[in-house]
Amino acid sequence: MSEYYIKQIFELNKGKNKKAKINTFGCQMNAHDSEKLSDMILKMGYEITNDNDADLVLFNTCCVRENPEDKLFGNLGYFKNKKKNNPDLKIILCGCMMQQKHIIDKLRSSYNFVDVVFGTFNFHKLPELLYNNIMSNSQIIDIWDEAKEFEENFSLTRKFPFKASVNIIYGCNNFCSYCIVPYVRGRERSRNFNDIVDEVKYLVDDGVKEIMLLGQNVNSYGLDLKNGENFAKLLKEINKIDGLERIRFMTSHPKDLSDELIFTMRDCRKICHHLHLPVQSGSNRILKLMNRKYTREYYLKLVEKIKKNIPDIALTTDIIVGFPQETNEDFEDTLSLVKEVAFDNAFTFIYSKRERTKAAKMPEQIPSEIVKERFEKLLDVLNNIVGKKNERYLGSTQKILVEEYDNNKLTGRNENNILVHFNGKKNLLGNLVDVKIINCKPFYLVAERI
Ligand code: SAH
Ligand code: SF4
Ligand code: F3S
Repeated sequence: MSEYYIKQIFELNKGKNKKAKINTFGCQMNAHDSEKLSDMILKMGYEITNDNDADLVLFNTCCVRENPEDKLFGNLGYFKNKKKNNPDLKIILCGCMMQQKHIIDKLRSSYNFVDVVFGTFNFHKLPELLYNNIMSNSQIIDIWDEAKEFEENFSLTRKFPFKASVNIIYGCNNFCSYCIVPYVRGRERSRNFNDIVDEVKYLVDDGVKEIMLLGQNVNSYGLDLKNGENFAKLLKEINKIDGLERIRFMTSHPKDLSDELIFTMRDCRKICHHLHLPVQSGSNRILKLMNRKYTREYYLKLVEKIKKNIPDIALTTDIIVGFPQETNEDFEDTLSLVKEVAFDNAFTFIYSKRERTKAAKMPEQIPSEIVKERFEKLLDVLNNIVGKKNERYLGSTQKILVEEYDNNKLTGRNENNILVHFNGKKNLLGNLVDVKIINCKPFYLVAERI
């Protein structure tokens, strides 16, 4: 159906040299949605630009932390002014923030210059909604509160020809008490097993060497299909695809990381030895309040099992500081867990209150000065650990997928997802090359070709 509207808009745009700017916030899920949106926008006859002087601007929004709302509404003011010079400028909003009623109310009442608004469940409708806006010259807002249709036939515009992301499961059922994602992305929906395998095969035929399997919790893959499929089986099948070199995935919830998955990572050559395993806190009391459904002891045991089976695994994590009721003692528990696991990297976040979540109603939200102090302390501890861990690569040989070239300098990642810089020629872009590590910095490595 989209094809019809894409063609109509293409005809309207033909010969007019139209440009579109796409602004993407949030996680890899949003980045991947934007690749699909870009593809539709290209097919509608726009050229993608980085310039604000565009004929179409799209904001794919995120609402997981802080209040990005002020920033978005500020940006809208800027583009409202641009409309004075270019009345045909189309302003389009989509993504997670649009699934919140108070945002839509505000857009309806005070931002009628915004042309098209849609959410996370119907972004495949972009061409139809934009067409309706052009024809009616009025604001079109279409937000669904659940996934009514399962759109499979997407093509996308990839940033890198040699690596690509593939959704395997949408939504989240976990309802961690601080998190807005289940409210804006809906319940877990796994894609059909063969559709995923076929998509990876297609991408490999198209030159892709590294694949990133995406989901808020990939470990739940298949549970809702009720046909015996699971994530480990999917990985084993993808591992068989000829021409594919590397498999990565994000994110794993510790509560349902199975032994089968650990053994699959150990046994399948193409699965990278990197695991992103968000712990959030090292205190049992806080983990319980967060509704994470595991304890500190469980997490540490799991890590031990993973390290035993895959000794060169790189472990990374997410940590939230300043969750309601977090005491100094709770925070110390987080620090000691961080030291015990010795993570290879961590994303650290200051707790941010999200309306509608359980945590927003919890007593004793922590004053910001205390949170900042803890946050700094955590960063200090982490930087130290991450720096020391990187030293283990000194003198070793690493296989790098070369991702970027600039002035005889190449940048890529090793299997453990660590950034590596070395000198070399542009023709190595997209290739896997062996290098020797000659210098270790806290957040990257320096190497030479061998
Ligand atoms: N599904 C993934 C992550 C989703 S959001 C998972 O569970 O691992 C990415 C990270 O953002 C989370 O791991 C958490 O650390 C952080 N986050 C989510 N909600 C937050 C909030 N309200 N305040 C601060 N950080 C938050
Ligand atoms: Fe949010 Fe928890 Fe779901 Fe991750 S698992 S998306 S943190 S509710
Ligand atoms: Fe943000 Fe939505 Fe991802 S809220 S983190 S873009 S799922």
